Amino acid sequence: MATALLPARVAASRHALSVSQLIRTCPLEPKFFPKRCGFCAISAQLIRSPQLVELEYAELNLPRNPSEELGHVRIRQHVNPLRSSLSVPAEIPDWSRVFKDPALPLMVDIGCGSGRFLLWLARRNPDLQNYLGLEIRQKLVKRADCWAKGIGLDNVHFMFANATISFQSMVSTYPGPLMFVSVLCPDPHFKKRHHKRRVVQKPLVASIVDSLVPGGKVFIQSDVFEVALDMRDQFDEHSHVLEHIDSIDPSISCDGDGWLVDNPMGIRTEREIHVDWEGGRVYRRMYQKRN
Ligand SMILES: C[S@@+](CC[C@H](N)C(=O)[O-])C[C@H]1O[C@@H](n2cnc3c(N)ncnc32)[C@H](O)[C@@H]1O
Repeated sequence: MATALLPARVAASRHALSVSQLIRTCPLEPKFFPKRCGFCAISAQLIRSPQLVELEYAELNLPRNPSEELGHVRIRQHVNPLRSSLSVPAEIPDWSRVFKDPALPLMVDIGCGSGRFLLWLARRNPDLQNYLGLEIRQKLVKRADCWAKGIGLDNVHFMFANATISFQSMVSTYPGPLMFVSVLCPDPHFKKRHHKRRVVQKPLVASIVDSLVPGGKVFIQSDVFEVALDMRDQFDEHSHVLEHIDSIDPSISCDGDGWLVDNPMGIRTEREIHVDWEGGRVYRRMYQKRN
């Protein structure tokens, strides 16, 4: 990583800033950053989106290939969750083996991808919450678990699971309260005939809403407007149980169309970093279950 990022570091040092400070200091709209920003002089040639991911998560110090057995993890585009081999519910883990304290409140990230986002949160909140990533691509799960062990985290666990099939049984057996569920940049499955492959479907939404404890939260986001709108419509249908967060917490604001202005998590997911890099927009909503 060090060699690949050298030009960005050089650009940063010219301004006496760290790379991440430099990124935040960019005077242009994020949608222009970094491709067209003369100020910071980082161009598409100098720093690429995967390197930005490594920068964002630099403090985790994750090795690229955490185990020899795993080798290089190649990421295929989309998986079809309707494949018969993926319709089998995942085995329920022994929660006291996967988490040091299985009574802690749980956050579940559905479609957690590489897992870096959850690893970062787990590192930040060691004794407050447990984190469970559900992911349908097995190699990503294996690598994320290797990373978690490698950095000594005992409050995060990754499971190879089709969330559509396994979410309910997972959370209903967890000993502590379900406090937070996120679905962040789910696979869009653009073609109409493939919409049924999308992870956010009515039964999953109902199950999330039922399983959360009062005060628990759901966070959804997508850079594909149509997908964001579809998720939003499905959660808005439960407005008798869910309130949007801006009506509860005055420090969180929405734009005129009801999308969150900022990311409330303190860190961007990988997909989000790619989208920012490409000048796209991320549409977000966060709900809280009524008491
Ligand atoms: C576009 S990626 C986003 C990853 C991450 N949330 C992010 O924002 O960077 C969507 C992820 O959801 C996973 N996924 C898709 N359908 C799923 C399902 N039914 N159950 C679990 N994971 C699923 C995919 O394998 C992929 O890793």
